[in-house]
Amino acid sequence: MKILFLGDVVGISGCSKILRNLKSEVEKRQIDFVIVNAENSAEAGVGITGEICKDFFNCGVNVITSGNHVWDQKEIMNYIEKENRLLRPYNLFKPSPGKGFEIYKTTNDIKIGVLNLMGNVFMKKCEDVFEVAKNFLQNHTLKVDYDILIVDFHGEITSEKNAIGHFFDGKASLVVGTHTHIPTNDARILKNGTAYQTDAGMCGDYDSVIGMDKENSINRFLKESSVKHFPATGDATLSGVIVDCDLKTGLSKNVESYIFGSQLKNTL
Ligand SMILES: [Fe+2]
Repeated sequence: MKILFLGDVVGISGCSKILRNLKSEVEKRQIDFVIVNAENSAEAGVGITGEICKDFFNCGVNVITSGNHVWDQKEIMNYIEKENRLLRPYNLFKPSPGKGFEIYKTTNDIKIGVLNLMGNVFMKKCEDVFEVAKNFLQNHTLKVDYDILIVDFHGEITSEKNAIGHFFDGKASLVVGTHTHIPTNDARILKNGTAYQTDAGMCGDYDSVIGMDKENSINRFLKESSVKHFPATGDATLSGVIVDCDLKTGLSKNVESYIFGSQLKNTL
């Protein structure tokens, strides 16, 4: 069973690239299930709206995950209560609207668990992610509660993401990082069969500073005249991973990074 996971969608550029290409990509690569982290997909580059969620579901996305910017468009707090295909980080402080984990049944009766976690280092305050993950694994088991488990770990630093990958090794089908908007070159299967990549990268315009207008961003670093960050609007490149899961074990048979678009090639 092949699952496509796409990293943080940024602004209109990222959204329109997905809407124009996802259906044909899914068909061409024989993808069975699509998960997208879309917490930066709103026009402003922060948050997500109900309208965007509907567009994504209509073009073939099965589940949307998120992170620290999930509530930046306030309307989503109501929407998430009615839409279980949209997840927020599982370890947000209680009470928070929506859910951070759900099991989705495919038309072939395959149960896919999706868990959205958020890191603690250099991130908004949330519950201790390792404590929460430990507790989760004490109460959920691969091939008992679900056939496949995909973990989106939304975090800033590579060591925390690396540690969570090993923590879930043998207990999840895929652990993939999000949030930094830069794809890492370390897709692999860990010793006990879990596929892993430290960060999926973004679906956005890479001629930018992590998806935001580069001139404005440089000026902010220089402390020169600048405005609030706003997304770059050039043609987006889609980034993520494709994992092929063994339905007998729930573990991974193959994982590869996925890049669709021309911006990450070493050519002018
Ligand atoms: Fe984020």
